[in-house]
Amino acid sequence: MNNIETINKIKNDIKFFNPKTIDDIKKFKIKFLGKKNGIITLFIKKIKYIPISDRKKIGIILNKLKNEIKEKILKNYIKIKNINRNKFDITIPGKFTNIGSLHPISIIKNKIIKILYYMGFYCVDGNEIEDDWHNFTALNIPILHPSRDMQDTFFLQKNPDFLLRTHTSSVQIRYMKKNSPPFKVFSLGKVYRNETVSYNSNYMFHQVEGFYVNKNVSFCDLKETIQYMINLLFGKVKIRFRLSYFPFTEPSAEVDIFYDNKWLEIMGCGIIDPQVLKNVNIDSNLYTGFAFGLGIERLTMIIYNIKDIRIFFKNDIRFLSQFKNEF
Ligand code: DAH
Repeated sequence: MNNIETINKIKNDIKFFNPKTIDDIKKFKIKFLGKKNGIITLFIKKIKYIPISDRKKIGIILNKLKNEIKEKILKNYIKIKNINRNKFDITIPGKFTNIGSLHPISIIKNKIIKILYYMGFYCVDGNEIEDDWHNFTALNIPILHPSRDMQDTFFLQKNPDFLLRTHTSSVQIRYMKKNSPPFKVFSLGKVYRNETVSYNSNYMFHQVEGFYVNKNVSFCDLKETIQYMINLLFGKVKIRFRLSYFPFTEPSAEVDIFYDNKWLEIMGCGIIDPQVLKNVNIDSNLYTGFAFGLGIERLTMIIYNIKDIRIFFKNDIRFLSQFKNEF
């Protein structure tokens, strides 16, 4: 084929190019403009062998053809894309996708947050890495005090002591040190204890801590607050306060609820020990306060009748997908 014949053949191909698919367009592009063996590409490479007299003319023609090809490609591309778009039927029901669900701990956590907000508590953050003073000493748990044994601890460093907090009560200290009463605050998060993992204990779990400091806060206020909170969480259930001991509250109590025909212990609480207020420079003659702390895992186990705490941390889809309808 001489040059004129080749050019005519290309012109013809361009004229009758009528692709049905994007793939047809790709093939067309490669056929003429492909980097290695495209017809136009090779033609341009060979232009130096064309006699000078024709070279310029053919060069112009080739450039024109190249532009025509590009234009054809673009036009057809848009056309086919539009056809495909019009084929899209918005009335066809969407495909079912298997969406995830909230973790049961998150479900109960969110419920408690909502309840406490509703009751006028303000939410604050705490530190998961604590020092000895905030986690123990300022809460009336001095070194060598036997009550330290209740919370075996992961120390990150000794002397000075840094540790993973063993309870959220340390947030009381952090917050009270920086703020003046009155305040009504809660904090929620992870705590860590060096415990043997079993069906009812884990080295990490979640707690909520609530506290209220004002003039004339009494044990009655504490009882009423807790009764109200529990009723929002469990509906109408009987509750009882059992005298107990915590180093940072005096008096202290354990709260039980009558649920599933038995008494279940669900939280600790008490009137903040005046010494704790003194430790954070709050005038304990002027102010009193109450505090309470509860474990989210324990609560979740009661609410969903779960017998083994370890299941929360196994990432077992069969377990987790049972909470699909809960938000
Ligand atoms: N910090 C206690 C614990 O982890 C729970 C607790 C008990 C918190 C009584 C309180 C409280 O604020 O008043 O065992």
